[in-house]
Amino acid sequence: MKIGIVGAGFVGSTAAYAMVMRGVGSEIVLVDRNGELADAQARDILHATPFAYPTKIRAGSYADLDGAGLVVLAAGVNQKPGETRLELLTRNAEIFGGIIPEVLKAAPQTILLVATNPVDVMTQISTVIAARHGVPTCRVIGSGTILDTARYRALLGQHLGVSPKSVHAHVLGEHGDSEVLHWSNAEAGGLNVAVVGEQVGRPLTEAVKARIDDEVRCVAYRIIKGKGATWYGIGGGLARLAQVIANDERALVTCSMLTDSCLGVPQVALSLPRLLGAAGIISTLTPELDEAEAAALRRSAEVLKSAFDGVKL
Ligand code: LAC
Repeated sequence: MKIGIVGAGFVGSTAAYAMVMRGVGSEIVLVDRNGELADAQARDILHATPFAYPTKIRAGSYADLDGAGLVVLAAGVNQKPGETRLELLTRNAEIFGGIIPEVLKAAPQTILLVATNPVDVMTQISTVIAARHGVPTCRVIGSGTILDTARYRALLGQHLGVSPKSVHAHVLGEHGDSEVLHWSNAEAGGLNVAVVGEQVGRPLTEAVKARIDDEVRCVAYRIIKGKGATWYGIGGGLARLAQVIANDERALVTCSMLTDSCLGVPQVALSLPRLLGAAGIISTLTPELDEAEAAALRRSAEVLKSAFDGVKL
């Protein structure tokens, strides 16, 4: 599959590198308004292919995206220290208004994978713009909480002394401050993580749960304070989503898509467990939530809905 990546900054280039390391895609085209940056990133990543997979990778223009089955949208401004993701909205919405028509002119059949923050609202904005070009909702996906879910699994695994690959736990709702850690059905080895904690002698006390919640919810701010941006986690998450699409894996992943209704909140893009394949999102699952989780997810949906309602398209 030919994969386009618009935005060759930290996130876009790391996603391209992660795809090469995973052997995702036969060809990757990096597009950036700074052509020199896109070219430099492509040349640098090309030099990694002998250590990984013989993926063709080059810089190009929008026209070079022709025939792409997937285009990752990673262009735009990112958070400054202390800035929330939602505060990027106006600037990035304007940028997407120019990018998406150009992408769809070259690759009308592509799936769009939005990475730019605030990713859920940007996914909804992208869906509205893409629909004007005949693109169905199921082909506009946001990375959403794929990253938060990875953080959650990594931290739970670290506490329990278990591989994160054996932990199945999800973060739902906004990729942002209102996200919801789905504790009530987090499991490992077919057991709820609370039971695993007791059995391995590393109980998930309220203090441990609060620490994990705080780290998942706020770690991006700390990383941005320390190094200016995040890119490895999101780059890996984008490469994983690209792999699911390129291989038509029909994997269940938490990612963002415009959803008709979530707990009574209409027309909102947020992350839920979704079945994903080569044609985009195939179906969405309704998670079983306890009362507190349901209230938190409704609140998250309301935050995103009011953010989108403030956008002039
Ligand atoms: C983060 C950015 C990608 O959470 O939103 O690291």
